Amino acid sequence: MKKYIKPALMILAAAVIILQFFRGTPPEVRANNPGDLFANEMVDAEVATLIRNACYDCHSMETKYPWYTYVTPLSWWVFDHVEHGREELNFSEWAGMSIKRKNHKLEEISEETLEGEMPLESYTPLHPEAQLTDEQRQLISDWALSMMTSEE
Ligand code: HEC
Repeated sequence: MKKYIKPALMILAAAVIILQFFRGTPPEVRANNPGDLFANEMVDAEVATLIRNACYDCHSMETKYPWYTYVTPLSWWVFDHVEHGREELNFSEWAGMSIKRKNHKLEEISEETLEGEMPLESYTPLHPEAQLTDEQRQLISDWALSMMTSEE
């Protein structure tokens, strides 16, 4: 048994190294976003900080990629979350959304946050600033509902 451990570890190490060539491309990051939520709406500073800390990595163009997110196979998973997160809701492109879509997203934000669905559970262990208390979830939800406007 023992004599197999070393070759097995070497094969595993080689596999991890080879995997790094198939990392994939991180979804684009953009610093300047004229359509950003906070550039276009007056949002209470406390709520703004919570949303920035807990949602912006996956729901904006301002994603921060810590070093470990470049390690394959983790990279596949992280890049996929960012891509799908932005598809569903991109705070960097807030201003360009129709009122109907904004209202729908605000309702979802309230729901997903209150129910503890967002931020994704897999995200918070390595992002303590994104761990929301019940009061903070309530704050985000109240804000989202208060932002809903009647459709023209
Ligand atoms: C680690 C990445 C990540 C973080 C952080 C994150 N989300 Fe998400 N979010 C996703 C992904 C991926 C989806 C799409 C798939 C799904 O619904 O699970 C999604 C979907 C959503 C949706 C559903 C949109 C719809 O119309 O159905 C809402 C709303 C949402 N997120 C809000 C938030 C809010 C608010 C926060 C912060 C409190 C947040 N998310 C934090 C990754 C993330």
